[in-house]
Amino acid sequence: MDLEPGKRSVRASELIRQAQEAELLRFTTAGSVDDGKSTLIGRLLHDARGIYEDHLLAVREASARSGQKEIDWALLTDGLKAEREQRITIDVAYRHFSTPRRRFIIADTPGHEQYTRNMATGASTANLAVILIDARNGVVIQSKRHGFIASLLGIPHLVVAVNKMDLVDYSREVFERIRDEYVRFTTKLRIRDVTFIPISALHGDNIVHRSTHMPWYQGPPLLTYLETVHIASDGNLIDFRFPVQYVLRPNADFRGYCGTITSGVVRVGDEVAVLPSGKRTRISRILGPNGDTTYAFAPQSITVCLEDAIDVSRGDMLAHPGNLPWMVQDLEAILIWMDNRALRPGQSYLVKHTTNVVRGECVGLKYRIDPNTLHRQEAATLELNEIGRVHLRMHRPLLCDEYERNRGTGSFILIDPVTHFTAAAGLVIDRCHTHGAVRVSTAAPKKATNVTRHEGRVTPEQRAALLRQRPATLWLTGLSGSGKSTLAYALEERLVAAGHACVVLDGDNVRHGLNRDLGFSAQDRSENIRRVAEVARLFNEAGLIVITSFISPYREDRQMAREIIGGANFIEAFVDAPLQECERRDPKGLYAKARAGQIPEFTGISAPYEAPEAPGLRLESARYSVAELVEQVYQALEARGCFRPESGEDEK
Ligand code: ADX
Repeated sequence: MDLEPGKRSVRASELIRQAQEAELLRFTTAGSVDDGKSTLIGRLLHDARGIYEDHLLAVREASARSGQKEIDWALLTDGLKAEREQRITIDVAYRHFSTPRRRFIIADTPGHEQYTRNMATGASTANLAVILIDARNGVVIQSKRHGFIASLLGIPHLVVAVNKMDLVDYSREVFERIRDEYVRFTTKLRIRDVTFIPISALHGDNIVHRSTHMPWYQGPPLLTYLETVHIASDGNLIDFRFPVQYVLRPNADFRGYCGTITSGVVRVGDEVAVLPSGKRTRISRILGPNGDTTYAFAPQSITVCLEDAIDVSRGDMLAHPGNLPWMVQDLEAILIWMDNRALRPGQSYLVKHTTNVVRGECVGLKYRIDPNTLHRQEAATLELNEIGRVHLRMHRPLLCDEYERNRGTGSFILIDPVTHFTAAAGLVIDRCHTHGAVRVSTAAPKKATNVTRHEGRVTPEQRAALLRQRPATLWLTGLSGSGKSTLAYALEERLVAAGHACVVLDGDNVRHGLNRDLGFSAQDRSENIRRVAEVARLFNEAGLIVITSFISPYREDRQMAREIIGGANFIEAFVDAPLQECERRDPKGLYAKARAGQIPEFTGISAPYEAPEAPGLRLESARYSVAELVEQVYQALEARGCFRPESGEDEK
C-alpha cells in the first residue's frame, strides 16, 4: 500500500521491515512491593549478559559486604537511583540491554515506591508490560490495577510473570489457579495478548534458561518470549506529528529543527503546516543519525530544514496540512493519579505534553474507575493510584490527538506546580463537547425589584390585521460560514418584496451594538442568545417576522430562546453544511485564523457546535442554492399561516 500515491513512494511494508530489523522492544515492569521486580530485572540483565562487568563486580562486593551469599539482584537496579532526574522530568529510568535477536529498553522506576508510576510514564511507547505476581499472594488488587492500566495505555502485549515459584514448591496448581483467575479479569479488558510464565527471579527459573523445576510448563522462558513476540505492526505510521524539541542554528546559513517523530512518515518535499501558526512550507532536508536522508518515520530522531524562513520554536509541531492534530483547550481525559497529594479540582497544574508545558486545570471529575470491577464510581477527588475521567481546561490550546489513535500526542503528564512532582499520567479521550460541567446558570438573574408588567390595549389580532401577517421567529442556527446570514438577508428581501414586515437580527451586527460587551465564552454566548431572544420576542409582539442569524451552538441556549419567544412563534432552522465545507468557504478568513491559534474558542475548531436533533426546518446549504433555500423557508412560513392574518379564525 502506498502511503501517499504519486510521491516518492515509501511502502508501509518497507517501513515495517526496517522496524523489524531494528528489533527494538520497549517494555515496562510492574508489581507491588516485594513482588521481585528489581530482582527480575537484575537477573534478566545478568543472565542476558547485558550488564557491564565492572558494575557486576561492584554489586558482588556490595552483596558480600552485606553478608549475603547470593548476589542481591535488586542492588543492580537500585543503582539506577543515581540516574533519576529531578524537577519536571519524569521520574523513570531507562535500562538498555540487547541479545543477538533484539534490543530492549526497560522503563523502570528505581526502588519500590509508587508502583504504577513506571507503567504509566514509561508505557506510552511500550510494546509490552510485564506484571509480576507473587505466587504466595496470588492475584491482588494491584495486579488487576496494572493490567487495567496496561489496557488503558493500549500496551499491546502483557506478560504475567508468576514469581517466587520456588516458595510454593514450583506448584503447577498454584500457577494455574492464578492464571485462571487473572484470565477471568482480562477478558473484561481491551488487551488481547496475555501470556503467563511461572518464574523464580531469584534462582533464574524461566528467566533466560528453561527451569528444570517445572517440567509441566511448556512455554518459553521470559527472555525467549521477549525476543520473539511480534511487535512490528504496533506503531502509528499514518499521522505525521513532529513536535519541535529545539532549534539548531550553528551559523547564519543553517537553521534546523530537531525532535523525535511521534508518529507517521515524512519525506523531503512534503508540504507541512507549522502549528499553531498554521503557516505552510515544505521540507527541504531531513537529517538522520547518518546524515541526509529522503524520508524518516516514527520513532526516529531527526533534524529537518524548511524551504521558507518561518518562525518556528520549541513546542511547535509540524504535521501534514491534510492531517492535522486537534488544537483544543478543553479535553476529556483519563488520569492515572500518582501523587500523595490528591487531585484538587479547580487547582492549576502544569501539563507536559510532547515538547510543551502548558498550565491547565481540572474543571470536573466525571467518575473514578474501580480497577477491580471496572465499574464507574462517583468521586470528589482522585487519590494515589486511582484512575478517573476528567474534564481538563488548558490556558493555551494543546496540539493533540485521541490517545487511542496516537499514543504520543494523546498522552501527557500533570505536574504539581508547587512540588514539581509528577501528579498524574493523562490520556486524551476526546475534545470536550459540552461545557455543562463548568457552565453557570445562563438565565440572567433579575436585578430590578418593584417593577410591574403593564398590559397594552392593542391585541395581537389587531396587529395581525394591520400588517396582514402573523409574527414568527425563524431561528437560524449553524456553523460560521454555513450561510445563515446570506440566507437571512435574501429571505428578508423576498418577504419585503411580497409585502411583509420583517427584520433580521444578525450575530455580527448585534455584537457591534446591543451585545458589544460579550465575547465567545460559553457564558457570553448564552447571554448573547438570551438578549437576542428577548429582542425577537419584542419584535414578534410588535407583529414582525424575525429572522435571527446566530451560531447559537448550545442546545440548551436554543431551548432557552424557544422558551423566551414562545413555542408557537419559534421555528428552529438548522443551516446544515459540513464543517469541511464551511472551512473551505471560510468567507471571513476566520477558520484559517482559528486553525492558526489566533481565535480561541472558535466554533467547530476549538469550541463545540451541538447540532439540533429535530429541527423544525433543515436547510442544507451545501446542496441547495440560496434561491432554493429561500423558497423552502417561504413555503414553510406560508404553511404555518404567517401570511394569513385571519388564520387563527380560519381554523375555527
Ligand atoms: S454565538 O455563538 O454567540 O451564537 P454569533 O452568531 O453571535 O455567535 O457570532 C458569530 C460570529 O462572530 C461569527 O460568524 C464570526 O464572524 C464571529 N466570531 C468571532 N470569534 C468567534 C468565535 N470564537 N467563534 C465563533 N464565531 C466567532
